[in-house]
Amino acid sequence: MWDERYAEAGFVYGTEPNDFLARHATRHLPAGGRVLCLAEGEGRNAVYLARQGYDVTGVDGSAVGLEKARRLAEQHGIQIHTVVADLGAYELGSECWSGIVSIWCHVPTPLRVRLHRAVVAALEPGGVLLLEAYTPRQLEYKTGGPPTADGMMSLAELRRELAGLEFIHAEETVREVHEGKYHDGLSAVVQVIARKA
Ligand SMILES: C[S@@+](CC[C@H](N)C(=O)[O-])C[C@H]1O[C@@H](n2cnc3c(N)ncnc32)[C@H](O)[C@@H]1O
Repeated sequence: MWDERYAEAGFVYGTEPNDFLARHATRHLPAGGRVLCLAEGEGRNAVYLARQGYDVTGVDGSAVGLEKARRLAEQHGIQIHTVVADLGAYELGSECWSGIVSIWCHVPTPLRVRLHRAVVAALEPGGVLLLEAYTPRQLEYKTGGPPTADGMMSLAELRRELAGLEFIHAEETVREVHEGKYHDGLSAVVQVIARKA
């Protein structure tokens, strides 16, 4: 499904970064650090972060998406690392990332729970997770995201799954999202910025 979507002409979510990420990244992600972008797709967020001086790795299940990500990086004269992998099999490592970015990373709930435990373990002390995702309320808006609630997440779930991190920003909100034709309009989202002590 994702390879097919990314085979469309152009960048399906655009080439500009997610605006929650752009607003908060340089303030919270340790300067110049190693940042892992989960479910990175066509690379707009990874390229933005690399342009801010981070050493960025994007992981995604879609080889087609990550090929476009590499091309986008080249167009900007910067480098990103890419890993084609299913997040169910990808090893995040232990205390090795100063930042982890998760933008619209919607995987089945049991996998998400495991992934978030792995995120906590993979952040260095002082490392920061920056996450935006759809909440189940998004089903009322129909402006993007998965077709069912499975994989969407609430702030209460994230607080449990990310236990061990200190939440700096934690909000469920409804906001305008305009990122190409698949994310377009008023949307029910959850946003988290959380640091490992
Ligand atoms: C809505 S897109 C978001 C892409 C990117 N984060 C962005 O904001 O532009 C969701 C991404 O999740 C990836 N994805 C979904 N399930 C995955 C899995 N199990 N393993 C790896 N990637 C997955 C898809 O390939 C797709 O690129």
